[in-house]
Amino acid sequence: VSETKALWAGRFEQPIDEVAHRFSSSIAVDSKLWREDIRGSIAHARMLAEAGIIARDEAEQIIDGLTSIVSEIEIGVFQFDDSMEDVHLAIEQRLTEKIGAVGGKLHTGRSRNDQVALDERLYLKRAIPQIIDRAVDLISALLDQAETHVDTLMPGYTHVQRAQPVLLSHHLLAYVEMLGRDVERLRDCGSRLDRSPLGAAAFAGTSYPIDREAVANELGFSGTVANSIDAVSDRDYLIELASACSIIMMHLSRMAEELVLWSTTEFGFVTMSDAVTTGSSIMPQKKNPDMAELVRGKVGRVYGSLINLLTIMKGLPLAYNRDMQEDKAPMFEVVTTTHDSLEMMALVIRETTFDRDRMQQTTDQGYLTATELADYLVRKGIPFREAHYITGRAVAHAELREQPLQEMPLGILRSFSDKIEEDIYRFLDPATSVLEKRSPGSTNPEFVRNAIASWRTRLAVMAT
Ligand code: ARG
Repeated sequence: VSETKALWAGRFEQPIDEVAHRFSSSIAVDSKLWREDIRGSIAHARMLAEAGIIARDEAEQIIDGLTSIVSEIEIGVFQFDDSMEDVHLAIEQRLTEKIGAVGGKLHTGRSRNDQVALDERLYLKRAIPQIIDRAVDLISALLDQAETHVDTLMPGYTHVQRAQPVLLSHHLLAYVEMLGRDVERLRDCGSRLDRSPLGAAAFAGTSYPIDREAVANELGFSGTVANSIDAVSDRDYLIELASACSIIMMHLSRMAEELVLWSTTEFGFVTMSDAVTTGSSIMPQKKNPDMAELVRGKVGRVYGSLINLLTIMKGLPLAYNRDMQEDKAPMFEVVTTTHDSLEMMALVIRETTFDRDRMQQTTDQGYLTATELADYLVRKGIPFREAHYITGRAVAHAELREQPLQEMPLGILRSFSDKIEEDIYRFLDPATSVLEKRSPGSTNPEFVRNAIASWRTRLAVMAT
C-alpha cells in the first residue's frame, strides 16, 4: 500500500489493510484502460473550462499534465504497480504529483462510476471494429477457397454420415453466412453502446453546469446515456458483446472441428500447411492440427466470460456496486480471444489445401445420389414414400454387391421398378445431382457462383 493516503481517505483514520488492498486492487487488470482514461479526462477538463467551472489556465495545466503522463507511460517512466488501487486513481495521483493541487480539480462533477463506464465504452468503440476486421478477413479467406473450389464436389453430411453431394464452395459459404450475421451482431452492439455515460457522476448527476453533449461529441460518441442511474449501473453492452462473441466462437469451433476431422487419414479431405500445424515430440510421423484445436478449445474462455458477466450483474441493486469491478477481466478476455481466434482461423483457412480428388472419390461412394433416384421415381408418378422404399431396396442390394448405384446394370435397377430407364444414370452422377438442384439457396453451381459474387460486393462495403 502506498505511503500517501488514498484519494478518497478524508473520513478515514486508518489505512486500508494490506490484505484488503491486495484483494480489491484492480490495477493489474484495468491499467490496460489508461489511454481511454486519459482521453476521457482531457475531454472532461476541457469541458469544465468551457462551462466556466474551472479556469482556462487550470484546464490547460491539467491537459498538459495528462498529455505528459501519456508519454511517461509510453516510455516507461511512469509504471503501474501493485500499490495502486485502480487506473483512475493512479493517473489522478500522478497528475497531482506533477502539477500540484490544481490536479485535484479534474474530478469536479465526475465520479469513478461514470469514469469507468466511459473507459469501457471507449475501449469497446476501438476494439469492436478490430474484431469486425478480423471477421471480414476470415470471410474473405473463405470466399477465396470457395472460388478455387467452386466446382469441387464433396459429400454433404448429416449425423456425420454421407448424405448428399454438395459443392465444397457451398459448404464454405454456409460459414460465410454465419460470419456475416456475426459482423451484423457486432455492429449492432457497437452502435448501441455508442453513448457517453459521463456526467452521470456517482449516479444522480451533478449540480455543476456541465455539458454532457460536448464531452460526448469530443469523444466521438453519437450521444449520451439518457438516465444517470442507468449510465453507471448497467453493463448490458458488455454482455451483448460477450454473447455476440460467444456465437462467433461457437461458429469457429464448428469450422475448427471439421478441419480437424477432415485432416485425419480417415477423411483425408484437407492438408494444413506446416505453418499452422505442429509435430509430436514422440511420434515422428505426426502432423497435428493444433491451431484448429486451440480455436476449438478457446471457446470456453469466451462462454465462461459471458456467464461470468451475467453472474456478476445478476441481482445487483441499482446503482453502482463494487462487484462491477470484476467486469474488466472478462471484457478483455472476450475481446482478445475472439479477435485472435478469428485471425488464426483466417490463416488456417488460407493454409489449408482441399483434396479435390479425394472429396470427389468419396462422393462417388456411399450412395449419395439415392435421393436423386427417389426423386426420379416421383417424377414418374410414384408417391414419394413408395419411391423412398424402392430406392432403399436398391441401395441395400447395391451394398451387398459392394457397388455404387451408378455402376449397377440397368436390368438390376429395373427389377426394383420398371419406371427406371436408361436416363437414370445421368441423375446418379453427383455432378448432375448438384446441377439439378433448383431451389434458391441450394448447392446449384450457378447459385453458388452468384452467392460468391454478391458476397464479394458485400465484403467491399463491410470492410470499413
Ligand atoms: N475500479 C472501480 C471499478 O472498476 C472504479 C469505480 C469505483 N467506484 C467506487 N464507487 N468505488 O468498478
